[in-house]
Amino acid sequence: MTTVLLDVDTGIDDALAILTAALSDEIELVGCTVVWGNVDVEQGARNTSEVLRLAGHGDVPIAVGAAGPRSGAVPVFSPQVHGADGLGGCADAAQVPRLADESAVELLLRLSHEHAGALEVVAVGPLTNLAAALDADPQLPERIRHVTVMGGAALAAGNVSDTAEANIWHDPEAAQVVLDAPWELTMVGLDVTMTSLITDEHRARLAAGGAIGRFASEILDLYLGYYEAATGRRASGNHDALALAVATGLVRTTLSPIVDVEVDCSDGPSRGRTVALLEGEWGTWPDREGARHRVVMEVEPGFEDRMVELLAGA
Ligand code: BDR
Ligand code: CA
Repeated sequence: MTTVLLDVDTGIDDALAILTAALSDEIELVGCTVVWGNVDVEQGARNTSEVLRLAGHGDVPIAVGAAGPRSGAVPVFSPQVHGADGLGGCADAAQVPRLADESAVELLLRLSHEHAGALEVVAVGPLTNLAAALDADPQLPERIRHVTVMGGAALAAGNVSDTAEANIWHDPEAAQVVLDAPWELTMVGLDVTMTSLITDEHRARLAAGGAIGRFASEILDLYLGYYEAATGRRASGNHDALALAVATGLVRTTLSPIVDVEVDCSDGPSRGRTVALLEGEWGTWPDREGARHRVVMEVEPGFEDRMVELLAGA
């Protein structure tokens, strides 16, 4: 059993990660902190509340975090990917979200004390909240078991620019702060999340399940449409749930060297790119001495099928 705090910008694939965390017997979900990203932070919090309620976990604390990037720049959201409401047009506008009185930073710090040494932080949005928590308490890494980030691309192409992945591109300065902090960190980037694909075949299996499965199937329609327009194939990356799965052992990694990762924080064309210093012969990439960032390059296949089974069977 892994004790997890999820930092989310609840969008469609975040919703699948939240459902998986709530439903898996292997995971104790102790809190969700919400960050801007796919949608504005208030809508992200509403979506997080709706999804947790649907999963029967309305008691998990949800705290609202940063509304925009660390630099103070105007936030850019992703309605073209996740819909204006972040849930593919399926969000329940009448829902009254149940939110904690504390901020995302306060919740993260409190849980890091309550679960000192045991808390796995899984961050699947821009890293603004985590960087702010490090500002507030530089000793935070001493109490965190591990940080897993959905973000970046070591060798894969980017998804918001030729080289940059969305979560890192949204806030490169925050990502660099999080990479610099002295905690163990695993990067689950597009190199692997674009090998865990959700298709209409999965949607059909979800639709044949209960309320949770039907909800997942419905929100995925718009997401698959976006991928079809972008890639020519109706198959979406299972980004955020795969990061959760790596963090909690729901999927085994088969190639994940420990190397150093840096973020391009320039204003040039590769702003937001993660530069992973992979060494050695092509494809072997040994661990680099003194390095601290595990970069997942391959996972065992089949997690998306098990996730669909979990959601459809709930
Ligand atoms: C990441 O960007 C967001 O749109 C998704 O929710 C995911 O966290 C994929 O690049
Ligand atoms: Ca996300």
